[in-house]
Amino acid sequence: MRTPMIAGNWKLHKTLQESSGLVTELIPAVADNRTVEIVVAPVYTALSKVAEVIAGSNIKLAAQNCHPEAQGAFTGEVSPALLKDVGCHYVIIGHSERRQLFGEKDEFINHKARALAVAGLGIIFCIGETLEEREGGQMFDVLRRQIRYGLKQLSADQMAGVVIAYEPVWAIGTGKTASDVQAQEAHAFIRALLAELYNVQVASATRILYGGSVKPGNIDGLMTQPDVDGALVGGASLNADDFARIANFQPPG
Ligand code: PGA
Repeated sequence: MRTPMIAGNWKLHKTLQESSGLVTELIPAVADNRTVEIVVAPVYTALSKVAEVIAGSNIKLAAQNCHPEAQGAFTGEVSPALLKDVGCHYVIIGHSERRQLFGEKDEFINHKARALAVAGLGIIFCIGETLEEREGGQMFDVLRRQIRYGLKQLSADQMAGVVIAYEPVWAIGTGKTASDVQAQEAHAFIRALLAELYNVQVASATRILYGGSVKPGNIDGLMTQPDVDGALVGGASLNADDFARIANFQPPG
């Protein structure tokens, strides 16, 4: 009932030419895939070019970040409306790199979430605990806080536009994936929390992606888990063959 999503977060990689080359290779490799929502998130400067190349394909465009304000004296920032204008369907917010390297807090991320919901853009909302938090037994508290404050004031209707990406910080870019069981445990917790904060309908309709060293070799196992609805892929999304294999994962069963 939940359409799986495989999203590629290109981070700070690829020139215009490399970006268009990557999607040009990707388009035929995923063209027959009608069951998965496939998304790529290039750097800001490549959005317009990639939008042109993927037009008419089954690949959708996302941005990696946004600023919550619509316009004004915010040098260097990009608003939700401008991202919509360039052809984005989704915007990634709350990524652990933004939280850790750029000091973004739940309140600011929430401001972005509300602005995106108002602008009618889809949201890929990232959460996840550090190794220290996991080992200190705080994992569930951290996930609860990130969801409670990050999605504060979003209505049950607006939650239809939200995809949650559970990305344990210790698994991002490290080659250490959470086991299928660890991913399922966190996803089940998140779904139960959505039922508590919203209702059972929102909980069962919301897609929860796993992120952190997702590769062609571990996607099939992750997708066998009942609460894993797809993946947010960093490193492996930079290679068309790898990303296509992930998007064309072998369905469980
Ligand atoms: P990774 O990154 O797949 O390279 O671990 C995932 C992410 O940061 O979204």
